[in-house]
Amino acid sequence: MALLALLLFGFAALTSCSPSKQLSVSSSETARSQDVIPGRDNATYGATPKPDQLFAIEFLETMPYPINSNDLFFIYLSGWFLPGRVHNLTDDDLAKATVTCTFSIVYRDGTHECFEPWATGLATIAFDRWWNLSLRNSEGDQTKHLTLGDNDLILDWIIYRGYSVAGNWTMELDARIPDGRCLFDVSMTHWIDGDYHRRLDAEVNWASKAITPIGRHIAGGLRG
Ligand SMILES: *[C@@H]1O[C@H](CO)[C@@H](O)[C@H](O)[C@H]1NC(C)=O
Ligand SMILES: *[C@@H]1O[C@H](CO)[C@@H](O)[C@H](O)[C@H]1NC(C)=O
Ligand SMILES: *[C@@H]1O[C@H](CO)[C@@H](O)[C@H](O)[C@H]1NC(C)=O
Ligand SMILES: *[C@@H]1O[C@H](CO)[C@@H](O)[C@H](O)[C@H]1NC(C)=O
Repeated sequence: MALLALLLFGFAALTSCSPSKQLSVSSSETARSQDVIPGRDNATYGATPKPDQLFAIEFLETMPYPINSNDLFFIYLSGWFLPGRVHNLTDDDLAKATVTCTFSIVYRDGTHECFEPWATGLATIAFDRWWNLSLRNSEGDQTKHLTLGDNDLILDWIIYRGYSVAGNWTMELDARIPDGRCLFDVSMTHWIDGDYHRRLDAEVNWASKAITPIGRHIAGGLRG
């Protein structure tokens, strides 16, 4: 649970939007067609150029699309490591891969907010009841880590409407191995509805409530 607490703390913390971040948000709005990843999400490749990404993405789907707050949703990323592109990539590299999530929002009034990036190991993991990441190989078997060959990554999650602020939520997922090489870097923007009203003075870290499993609020756990 320490990992989850750390992760949510990171997710919740606001950071100032750097000019390059603002640039990446506006450039994703005018994404060139070759940057769009096939699949129902209108996802694009992130800041890392597609040729520098070792994982060849076949599609990225999100269901429902766009994501509805309060509904369980799934992000399904499928692809493979092409032998010609992966050179010296090893199972050990993949076992040590991490993924960093950078999250920003453009609110209804057009203002823009960025959150501290957070990182976690890229592995099959049950974060909590409504928040799991599962990896599968070409045999359909669940694997602990990505494998050389075909891989499916499925993330299931809920964003709670009562705790979320409406806006265009952009999530960039950047997966890397320890030597710095990029496995994949994708960016997704969804309009997420929310009933929560931002009060920067009182609640700078509202986002942690939006994404934390509801039982924790009832139990008064992480957020109190
Ligand atoms: C996704 O892209 C297609 C094609 O450009 C567009 O018709 C559709 O409205 C987009 N969907 C959303 C939810 O933005
Ligand atoms: C693997 O190859 C890349 C270049 O293709 C190189 O930058 C990297 O240092 C190599 N890593 C190892 C562990 O050999
Ligand atoms: C959210 O994104 C959609 C699609 O790009 C755009 O039409 C809309 O103006 C955006 N809304 C805000 C508040 O940025
Ligand atoms: C997510 O993991 C939890 C265990 O923490 C499990 O109870 C739950 O069924 C999983 N959810 C899905 C959709 O697989």
